[in-house]
Amino acid sequence: MPETILTNNALAERIETSDEWIVERTGIRQRHIASVLETTNSMGAMAARNALQMAGVRAEDVDMVIVATCTPDKTFPSSACHIQQELGIPPCPAFDVQAACSGFIYGLSIIDQFIRTKMAKRVLLIGSEVMSRVVNWQDRRTCVLFGDGAGAILLEASSTPGILNTHISADGRHKDILYLDNQANATIEMQGNSVFKLAVNMLDTIANQILVANNLTIHDLDWLVPHQANIRIIQAMAEKLGLPMERVVVTLREHGNTSSASIPLALDFAIRQGKIKPGQRLLLEAFGGGLTWGTALIQY
Ligand code: COA
Repeated sequence: MPETILTNNALAERIETSDEWIVERTGIRQRHIASVLETTNSMGAMAARNALQMAGVRAEDVDMVIVATCTPDKTFPSSACHIQQELGIPPCPAFDVQAACSGFIYGLSIIDQFIRTKMAKRVLLIGSEVMSRVVNWQDRRTCVLFGDGAGAILLEASSTPGILNTHISADGRHKDILYLDNQANATIEMQGNSVFKLAVNMLDTIANQILVANNLTIHDLDWLVPHQANIRIIQAMAEKLGLPMERVVVTLREHGNTSSASIPLALDFAIRQGKIKPGQRLLLEAFGGGLTWGTALIQY
């Protein structure tokens, strides 16, 4: 996470909003903001190094790099190529995945196919975003929601699968309710209420779909690790699924919506806190601009 923290109260000094409004409507208390020296590439490289260290894997043994991001420093070369070079990872497939806030689950799904078909053995998946550079800081309906950060995981082939299953999908009919034009100084445009309603109406359905497809029920899950967009969306999903909030990982209070970085950041938090333990079963879920969405069942 970038060092600089922007609290709701500090934001309220710049635009017409309040800590009370933001906390009540979103659950967010603060967000981290990248300095000029902190970029998608630099934060992503740092997260990737930490992931390799935690996994005890050397950079030279990585054979694929995927970066999920909708705020790359450059359209090309990709952030994945930059981070590959930065870490000294030998020549291998390296590319970015752009599926807005669902990018991390899309990346997981791609990697699952590569590992199952023995095309890759050790893959770095990184989510890294500088959302602060693409929000309109005068638009109180959007700027309060987003923050910057990066997270990464290392996936390794093994005889017992860690990724049990993934489902990804999209519906381009909703492309106009949340978008970022590819032009200089463009900012996120969003119909917040439409996004909210779509998310609340679909998230329990997609969660149940992947559970049923794998002959599991909600009782077989230890943790739900949702995309960290809005606490009310997460609570509505948990309630519809009949899942107590004690089994849901929530980190958005501290860093808001970090798009593709939100799930790896939530995983990092819950694993380092000792909440998520080896052998437990997790359901990851995300939705984002497109509309895109995805779920992943993980045996940690
Ligand atoms: N501070 C104070 N007031 C604000 C505000 C802010 N930051 N943002 C909006 N308001 C005002 C609005 O102007 C409106 O005032 P009005 O009734 O006088 O017109 C009022 O609050 C209600 O606005 P509304 O947009 O209906 O609020 P909401 O309850 O839908 O909450 C969001 C807005 C954005 C928090 C909510 O719609 C949301 O979270 N949507 C999903 C967005 C999302 O997750 N996007 C990323 C997906 S990956």
